[in-house]
Amino acid sequence: MGHLFIPGPVDVDPEIAAEQTRAMLPHRSAQFEEIFRRAGENAQKIFLTKYRVFISASSGTGFHEAAVRNLVEKDVLCCVNGAFAERWKQVAESNGKQADVLSADWKEPITPERVKDALSQKKYEAILVVHNETSTGLVNPVKQIAEVVRATSPDTLICVDAVSSLGGDKIEMDAWGLDMVLTSAQKALALPPGISLAAVSDRAMAKAETVANRGWYFDLVRMEKHRLKDSTPATPAIGLVYALDKQLERMLAEGLEARFARHAAMAELTQNWATSRGLELYAPEGYRSQTVTTIDNKLGIEVSKLNAFLSERGMRIANGYGQLKNITFRIGHMGELGLSDMEELLAAMDDYLTQNK
Ligand SMILES: Cc1ncc(COP(=O)(O)O)c(C=O)c1O
Repeated sequence: MGHLFIPGPVDVDPEIAAEQTRAMLPHRSAQFEEIFRRAGENAQKIFLTKYRVFISASSGTGFHEAAVRNLVEKDVLCCVNGAFAERWKQVAESNGKQADVLSADWKEPITPERVKDALSQKKYEAILVVHNETSTGLVNPVKQIAEVVRATSPDTLICVDAVSSLGGDKIEMDAWGLDMVLTSAQKALALPPGISLAAVSDRAMAKAETVANRGWYFDLVRMEKHRLKDSTPATPAIGLVYALDKQLERMLAEGLEARFARHAAMAELTQNWATSRGLELYAPEGYRSQTVTTIDNKLGIEVSKLNAFLSERGMRIANGYGQLKNITFRIGHMGELGLSDMEELLAAMDDYLTQNK
């Protein structure tokens, strides 16, 4: 297996990739329905929720759209301190919602205090927060944010983008009181891109029933009707559902706590490597991601040259994202990777830095 140390898409275990080549089944067959139901039930364990998990034939951005189309008639508060949060805000605006922004410097988390202030000034139907900002390698304190939302504005629905963290970091949907948590396949779930998952609470479903113009493809009420029959309104990504089913079984066999600890250890190793080489981490201490590390490119490393060097060794890292391109670079440590893979990468990076002093 080659090693992609980028924050998605990531390496897919060959056994999981092979699942996609199994014979197709009609999606309205008992055999497929059984697989679909099992995948949905096992997904609940990864989201740590008793609520339903939708499986969509789309990437995660589809559920960005579903959140604002289904859960917001008019007013939504968008917490923005990174590129993907900015995108979610644009999704809300382009769907005609009044998207107010609570912004923070990209090097700072969204704080519960600021959320409390914003909610004290205006009533919002929903708040959108990105848990793991893949652009900055910063984790927002979602648990604490959810606490103040519940205390300050109990009816406001809490929507969380866990695209690059679910499966690699512990997000306790029910214990934290979240209403919608969405993720993509090609990140810490280590699946090929093409499907996404979202867990949705009962009260969010009740709100959706009242919202007009939910659209068709991402209408959660329609999706729920079909899900209750272990099916989907339109054709599911059958091969990817096979792969998801198998991968969820593997993840549960590894053990969720073991999986989170593996990610934490990889993050620690990577972050210690960077600081011990005189590099600075983009995100502040206490808010650093377990799945991706964003490093200030103070040394002016030419990322394309570094990647050419790494690719001779079957490896690749990621440049900074969007406005952080070349100013930062990113090392992904999610999915199937382990400590020995990280050691191999960091040793190769040391070789490159020594040769290019
Ligand atoms: C935090 C975050 N949100 C949303 C997205 C968009 O997900 P997708 O490309 O699966 O639509 C990404 C993609 O990298 C992401 O990292």
